[in-house]
Amino acid sequence: MDPVGIYFVGTAGAGKTSLVGAMQQWMGLKGLDCITVNLDPGAETLPYSPEYDIREWLSLHKVMEEYGLGPNGAQIAAADLLAMRVHEIRDILETFRSPYILIDTPGQLELFAFRKASRLILETLTGERSTLAFLLDPTLAKMPSGYISQLMLAATVQFRFSVPMMNVLSKSDLLSEGEIENIVGWAEDAYKLQSAAEAELGGPYNQFNIELFRALETVGAFRNFIKTSATELSGIEDIYTAVQNHFAGGEDLMKD
Ligand code: GTP
Repeated sequence: MDPVGIYFVGTAGAGKTSLVGAMQQWMGLKGLDCITVNLDPGAETLPYSPEYDIREWLSLHKVMEEYGLGPNGAQIAAADLLAMRVHEIRDILETFRSPYILIDTPGQLELFAFRKASRLILETLTGERSTLAFLLDPTLAKMPSGYISQLMLAATVQFRFSVPMMNVLSKSDLLSEGEIENIVGWAEDAYKLQSAAEAELGGPYNQFNIELFRALETVGAFRNFIKTSATELSGIEDIYTAVQNHFAGGEDLMKD
């Protein structure tokens, strides 16, 4: 059976790399086979040893020098260079014959969300057996306005990729129980979110009205989330279960 690719996406510093490392560790502890892939040429250090690391042949510094680009331009050029070798990468990944590929994407969300190259990468590497884990950064998500902004980003990502996506609240150990309860409430009830946003901004919150939340719901961005912590290794099982539910109807893919 072709492997399932789980792509971890989110704003810079949302915790993608740490969660990839944590999920690999958790799966190892459960005796589940997976491989990890780093697609971020700008990553300095990784808390895991990827089976495939784009930095082995693509250096952001070299791209900057060679093409006379700044760091952001180099990231864009790097995404295109990566896309040009994507078939070769797929062939390498196939040799591991692992049922799960955990994929760490570049720090800047827009690089993954907006570039045509990313769609080609996802389609070529794992095609229909791809899923996105969209990370909600807790430092933003704990405020209604930040939570709404993150949902809008999630909607943008979902709009670009026609594959199942789960919202994942990362670094939940940094939030108090009350803060987590608030986010749970907002995820369940758009009216609650609207009044919290009004209270935060001290007035009618017309731009972000209920119609906007309905639109976010329609594209699948407004939904419950999975609460995780890479440091506490918590919530990873829920990501795994969500993947099973989608790709194996709740059966364990490994048992198949
Ligand atoms: P970029 O790719 O550089 O944009 O970052 P990223 O999204 O991969 O985030 P990364 O995993 O590098 O984490 C960013 C920071 O958050 C680091 O300082 C991590 O140590 C910290 N961090 C990540 N996950 C957790 C967590 O579960 N709990 C806590 N407390 N800190 C975390």
